Amino acid sequence: MSRWFAPGRINLIGEHTDYNDGFVLPLALPMGCATTVAAADARWTVVSAQEDGEVVVTPSGLSGRDDVPDWATYVLGALWLLHDDGVDVPPLRIEVDSDVPVGAGLSSSAALVCSVVCALDEQLGLDLGSDGLLALSRRVENDAVGAPTGGMDQLASLRGEAGHALFCDMRDLTSQSVPFDPAAAGLTLLVADTRAPHRHADGEYAARRRGCEQAAEALGVAALRDVADADLDDALARLDDEELQRYVRHVVTEDARVLEAVDVLRAGRVDDLGPLLTASHASMRDDFQITVPEVDTAVEALLGAGALGARMTGGGFGGCVIGLVPQDSVDAAGDAVRRAFAESGFGEPTVFTATAAAGARPA
Ligand code: GLA
Repeated sequence: MSRWFAPGRINLIGEHTDYNDGFVLPLALPMGCATTVAAADARWTVVSAQEDGEVVVTPSGLSGRDDVPDWATYVLGALWLLHDDGVDVPPLRIEVDSDVPVGAGLSSSAALVCSVVCALDEQLGLDLGSDGLLALSRRVENDAVGAPTGGMDQLASLRGEAGHALFCDMRDLTSQSVPFDPAAAGLTLLVADTRAPHRHADGEYAARRRGCEQAAEALGVAALRDVADADLDDALARLDDEELQRYVRHVVTEDARVLEAVDVLRAGRVDDLGPLLTASHASMRDDFQITVPEVDTAVEALLGAGALGARMTGGGFGGCVIGLVPQDSVDAAGDAVRRAFAESGFGEPTVFTATAAAGARPA
């Protein structure tokens, strides 16, 4: 039997840059998913503490993609891919239990997939290593589930380090831990889960990704990461599509903000992160156009209550907002978000504090 835990994540900064071969700066959360894998007789059974019933797959289902509920594809996906790769996957019972809220933009899916992949790696003696675990986790989401995501979430979930953010170069998939200790600067990372229903998030995400690829092609570069910040005006002048111009401006300036954020954290100037977060939000709202009224309202409320900076985190169209808030303003900032939501007629948000925790580990 093997049992692994993998966390959800918050992205501090660097949104929609991962699939543009760019830079991201996420951190692993204390919340996550624990997966237990044990040998079984004849069949593959998947059980979730958050779902009713068991999903049972017979040998033909291992290659034939039986009709299974959506959540179970995040678990069975790893088995399907290993089977396709020629790995002899013996019958197993897989139990998952997660406390990452679904649909909040905190990567409940990466926590689930990474904990399953790590537990399978140990149970089956696959010895995938760090790069192999990342590759298989990404394939589960991209190929088995069919979500065209960019790899940041799995990297953060697998490689996060307590007390640190993870600076990732999404071109070569290298990562470096960068100290992130807001408490030492008298600050708290506050999270407001807007609980706004994701509106068309999947289709809009895929559309942004396509737009970025079109822009890169029009500019003759492999990916938008190859457009230097200093060359942005030139690049924009070479595009006549207003939408693509906005996408390029977001991605190029966001990559630059990530690099600056890494510099300020390495210099121990956590408070200087604030303006970068707020600028990132403005870029997502005005240029990339992936925010919704709930997240914009939460950001304004946090800033109005004294946050040094605030932004939506994750893929967009709902989900969570983060704010860098002085410790003595944490209660006031939470109240401000709840009040603003009540005044706007939005549902009640959930507000909590977050710290950087360790990535995937045996549980
Ligand atoms: C989602 C995807 C990530 C990344 C973010 C946006 O979380 O899973 O790969 O693209 O959106 O930064």
